Amino acid sequence: MSNFFALIPAAGSGSRMHNELPKQYLPLNNRPMIYHAISALFQNHRITRIFVVLAPNDNEWIKYDWSEFSEKLTTLNCGGATRAVSVLNGLTAAKQKNLIGASDWILVHDAARPCLTSIQLEKLINQLADDEVGGLLAVPVADTLKRGNAEYRIAHTESRENLWQAQTPQMFRYDLLTTALRNTANIHITDDASAVEALGLRPKLVLSDTYNFKVTYPQDLALAELIIQKRNNP
Ligand code: CTP
Ligand code: MG
Repeated sequence: MSNFFALIPAAGSGSRMHNELPKQYLPLNNRPMIYHAISALFQNHRITRIFVVLAPNDNEWIKYDWSEFSEKLTTLNCGGATRAVSVLNGLTAAKQKNLIGASDWILVHDAARPCLTSIQLEKLINQLADDEVGGLLAVPVADTLKRGNAEYRIAHTESRENLWQAQTPQMFRYDLLTTALRNTANIHITDDASAVEALGLRPKLVLSDTYNFKVTYPQDLALAELIIQKRNNP
């Protein structure tokens, strides 16, 4: 039987958010944004431990009370220059601390996705628990896609057939994911599936919804807040 672990890379600066505070700590419903990502993973009974990868110079984490999660939560101060490096460093450090087996599942989830529901998380785990490769939550692209040129003119319209937006969690077995991330160390990738794809494998797309969007720009924060408030007061 494989175990399930979660790993949250939270060592970014949130440059597109244009706020001095790294976005994972921006207030969202009276909590730092990362609280919501941790909480969603914490409530899943199959996930036995959540690793949070912080920047080595993080001085925000300790300002909050995380004791409600303490039985499952481990912080690792080993974030790197990119998301991929933060994840790989986190995986390496987590293995040193804990009994993680080669074939145990790791669910990598962005700190900046506060609206993940227990239903989507459960669906991901159920659909992938017996999968050879692993996969991720994703949604089919909805908008018409334009390829622009340097003059802000449309070069052409891209077909959106079979195009998906990748979300997180992304779920892969420990050894496969570490091998994949080491293999792509010199390539710019922005998610875990890209690393696995580079090995010639085909991660599975598990249908999600757009509520699980990534808070990237300032206006995204207000939208996330509305979604969470509506869930708390239906
Ligand atoms: N991340 C990380 N280490 C990095 C960069 C990103 O752990 N060096 C984490 C972020 O903290 C976030 C997740 O990866 O939880 C997704 O990244 P993104 O949304 O791009 O966050 P940032 O890189 O912080 O934002 P930006 O790209 O706008 O600077
Ligand atoms: Mg980034």
